[in-house]
Amino acid sequence: MIEKGVEIPPAAGKVGVLLPGMGAVSTTLIAGVIAIRKGLAKPIGSLTQMGTLRLGKRTERRVPKIKDFVPLASLDDLVFGGWDIFEDDCYEIARKAGVLEGRLLDQLRPELEAIRPWKAVFDPQYVKRLRGTHVKSGKHKMEQAEQIMEDIEQFRQSRGLSRMVMVWCGSTEIYMKANAVHQKLESLERAMRENDPAVPPSMVYAYAALRLGVPFANGAPNLTVDVPAFTEFAARKRIPVAGKDFKTGQTLVKTIIAPGLKARLIGLDGWFSTNILGNRDGEVLDDPESFKTKEESKLSVLEYILQPELYPDLYSKFHHLVRINYYPPRGDNKEGWDNIDIFGWLGYPMQLKIDFLCRDSILAAPLVLDLVLFLDLAQRAGMGGIQEWLSFYFKSPMCAPELYPEHDLFIQLMKLKNTLRHLRGEELITHLGLEYYD
Ligand SMILES: NC(=O)c1ccc[n+]([C@@H]2O[C@H](COP(=O)([O-])OP(=O)(O)OC[C@H]3O[C@@H](n4cnc5c(N)ncnc54)[C@H](O)[C@@H]3O)[C@@H](O)[C@H]2O)c1
Repeated sequence: MIEKGVEIPPAAGKVGVLLPGMGAVSTTLIAGVIAIRKGLAKPIGSLTQMGTLRLGKRTERRVPKIKDFVPLASLDDLVFGGWDIFEDDCYEIARKAGVLEGRLLDQLRPELEAIRPWKAVFDPQYVKRLRGTHVKSGKHKMEQAEQIMEDIEQFRQSRGLSRMVMVWCGSTEIYMKANAVHQKLESLERAMRENDPAVPPSMVYAYAALRLGVPFANGAPNLTVDVPAFTEFAARKRIPVAGKDFKTGQTLVKTIIAPGLKARLIGLDGWFSTNILGNRDGEVLDDPESFKTKEESKLSVLEYILQPELYPDLYSKFHHLVRINYYPPRGDNKEGWDNIDIFGWLGYPMQLKIDFLCRDSILAAPLVLDLVLFLDLAQRAGMGGIQEWLSFYFKSPMCAPELYPEHDLFIQLMKLKNTLRHLRGEELITHLGLEYYD
């Protein structure tokens, strides 16, 4: 375990933000950071920029901003680069994604036009609904990984970067389970040289990042870095990794509501969640194999939060269904409905209905920013391997093999803030409170 109050080197120098997949989320992040730097908008939704944490007793009234408490890189020091299977520059991508207004994008146009994706490692076998021409060739997957490493090194040198972080913002790949190939780095490397289908493109990027000591987070539900070969290597080399699948719209709401129902011991008969969305992510998820990856990620949440084994009378028989329908007229502005059948005292039934008219990439962009800054902090603090304290950001948080993931948003937040307190040598907050009444 990392020691309490560890020495953390300052966040001096430029930080490269490497984004495999430059679509709606990536460009909303990049445009957002540039707009914030110019004073055109505020970093709403970002814990690193707006969040605070309490230190010591409530009577001490010490509540610094997180960014003043731990040494985080400044937004001015972030430099963006990435890969995509389409050649458009970030201005064109953002225009087509239709998340941000043209008026705002026009004010950021020169900066956005200057960011052009590098050629991607891509194989339509893993994302069936997409075809792109802006892709690398290579004899095998190891050669492709070497090309990614060359892109990264070239970026590091040409932009004078001190450190880097990679966040997968590419499309959701088909459902895959870890197998023997993924257990050891040597077997994975052999599989890459043999073009084994067990290595999807997202793993090629993760491999390249880890080989160069670059922290890696996975914003999609793909397996990617969540395999022993990578997590063990990352722990050994002290490279932070985190995942999977940004917790944004419906699952965010689910992990807010479900702990509340459980806290009051209100029973659950069923939870039906359905969504319509019309962006490219929705189109990719229209393919049953990509949807399966997403479905697994979305379904696991309730079982873990409600703990049916501990509360059989309340949660042993609930029906949980999740649907996503691709519906182009909505673009990135997703609508998610939840119908929740609950029961109270003496088993009397009640219902809860939620209609969340959300904006997917608006919810995701601040999470990517926070992950970049926190992973960079973690690396400077010497924290390697799975960063469970960043579970707050994910639908399927990665955790040690002997543990179950923590899904309750409020426990996740406490874990995150207590980790920051620990790093700075402050007392952890237990919320006991009895000491005020002695
Ligand atoms: N927006 C959210 O709220 C949210 C929440 C959770 C997860 N996610 C996930 O984040 C990812 C990005 O979402 P988005 O809305 O930006 O999707 P998007 O379709 O707009 O962007 C994804 C981009 O990745 C590119 N791509 C696909 N395979 C690639 C590869 N191998 N290499 C490089 N580029 C590749 C695509 O061409 C596309 O431009 C998706 O996997 C999505 O499921 C998004």
